Amino acid sequence: MAALSSPFTLRDVTFKNRIAVSPMSQYRAINGYANNWHLVHLGRFAMGGAALVYAEATAVEADGRRTHGDLGLWEDEQIEGLRQITKFISDEGAVPGIQLSHAGRKASERRPWHGETPVDEEDITLRGEAPWQPIAPSPITYADDWPDPTVMTEADIERVIHAFGEAARRAKEAGFKIIEVYAAHGFLVHQFLSPISNLRRDKWGGTAENRQRFAIEVARSIRKHWPEELPLAFRLSATDWLDGGIEVEDTAQIANALKAEGVDLIDCSSGGIAGRDRPRRMEIRQGFQVPFAAKVKEAADIPTMAVGFLWDAKICEGIIENGEADMIALARELLDDPNWPLHAATELQSNDNHEKWHNEFGWWLMKRDRLLKKLGIR
Ligand SMILES: Cc1cc2nc3c(=O)[nH]c(=O)nc-3n(C[C@H](O)[C@H](O)[C@H](O)COP(=O)(O)O)c2cc1C
Repeated sequence: MAALSSPFTLRDVTFKNRIAVSPMSQYRAINGYANNWHLVHLGRFAMGGAALVYAEATAVEADGRRTHGDLGLWEDEQIEGLRQITKFISDEGAVPGIQLSHAGRKASERRPWHGETPVDEEDITLRGEAPWQPIAPSPITYADDWPDPTVMTEADIERVIHAFGEAARRAKEAGFKIIEVYAAHGFLVHQFLSPISNLRRDKWGGTAENRQRFAIEVARSIRKHWPEELPLAFRLSATDWLDGGIEVEDTAQIANALKAEGVDLIDCSSGGIAGRDRPRRMEIRQGFQVPFAAKVKEAADIPTMAVGFLWDAKICEGIIENGEADMIALARELLDDPNWPLHAATELQSNDNHEKWHNEFGWWLMKRDRLLKKLGIR
């Protein structure tokens, strides 16, 4: 059996293979509520053979949304729509996961296709969507022409930590089996972690230990509500790609500290802390973030997930086989081909006669394959 097709267990949750659907914001929710778009978007990945299907960045409070279209779990009424999605994903043999998020200074942004710039008065006229005031650890803007965030008071910090815990309780009630905290790409938890965005001099900033405190408290708050038998993951930006920012060695330390708080997996992404221009040090090629997953796994002795610009089944197989990561996550490749996990298993000779496909598809494809062979077509 291919390594990519082998099962993997965290706490009491077993993933049938090593392939995860990376969280992908759809900007399609209304007031944070999930709808049929989310059901079909996520459901087709469960049908396509992924072991873990993550729902997109889901805000723990309304003002923590990045855009007006983000999903949310800040009120109990938002549970029901998500429950339908987790039921479908579970019934089709995949594990439903959710990414919990707070955008911090990146809140009140336009959807990508509306410009990925701050929401302003124009959006009220165009879409009936008003801007709101972002918050952050320090009074530093995300990029030029972005509004100054309000510096978080002690009460703000306590409120958001509490909101992560409450959202975890709702995620449990909605039927999710793994939570990933969005602590990457310049969102609030990352804003506390990085010395580029956190210039505080109180217990929440200054030293590395102080900058980690918010992430640690978020993990503790979640663990209060999240069952012992279910895994908790963090997505970290392993490097900021900027001098004076987080480096992979820092990330290994953060991972170690999180492990002690009941975090089971580190999803190793990178970048996003400041502005939209690609940092000079960042060179993109297939699997360019895999070395971070390997380094964190080794240095912190914690399972990791590799993500970013991956699509070749053999390369993904190598990552698992060589022990560079325990799971891989794909985003854009799965948008292009939601059946990628099934095709990859065939390419790696782990899917004889379409056995991994649901019968509703696989039975027909198997018959067609036989016919094609018989006719000498392929
Ligand atoms: C449509 C879309 C939405 C995304 N939304 C999120 C998100 O909500 N949370 C997150 O951590 N990353 C998000 N990402 C980043 C992906 O999860 C992934 O890390 C990135 O696209 C690199 O993987 P890929 O090369 O396989 O696409 C998004 C990417 C895409 C394409």
